[in-house]
Amino acid sequence: MSVNVLFVCLGNICRSPTAHGLFQAKVNAANLHHKITVDSAGTGGWHSGAAPDKRAQKIAQSRGYDISHLQARQVKPSDFNDFDYILAMDNENLINLQQQKPSDYKGVLGLFLVEAGVVSGTESSEVPDPYYGGEEHFEYVIDLIDQAVDGLLQRICDEHRLN
Ligand code: 4NP
Repeated sequence: MSVNVLFVCLGNICRSPTAHGLFQAKVNAANLHHKITVDSAGTGGWHSGAAPDKRAQKIAQSRGYDISHLQARQVKPSDFNDFDYILAMDNENLINLQQQKPSDYKGVLGLFLVEAGVVSGTESSEVPDPYYGGEEHFEYVIDLIDQAVDGLLQRICDEHRLN
């Protein structure tokens, strides 16, 4: 049985596909792809079927990650059956997911940065939406995500004794 991880943002074209691509790359590098599966989705469905935003693709490519093959989709009810960790990029998306969550959901539903252990109580616990921002916002987002996926992988390995 694999551990299944879902990253969630609003459109599933900027933040969560970036987290999806970087986390998948680190899972692969650790040779854990048969034990950890990764996906991403949006609480909104406007971009369903679309590739990641060109700016997100470009910044990921510049760091050595190809996310061009990913396709946006909306969160669906079965995600709460299928995923052990559902990680929201910001509070708005977390609240949306909490409202959809079945009362018997046994997994971890929380903020990505908090669950990855990279923020203290004084720092912002959100990955901010870069969609209406400039390239520097995308840089900021990928830096945060890069740090957080390392913390998340360590946590999951510890919790599931994967290495
Ligand atoms: P994401 O960014 O949630 O990181 O994928 C956004 C993408 C699209 C929109 C908002 C945020 N939008 O309003 O279309």
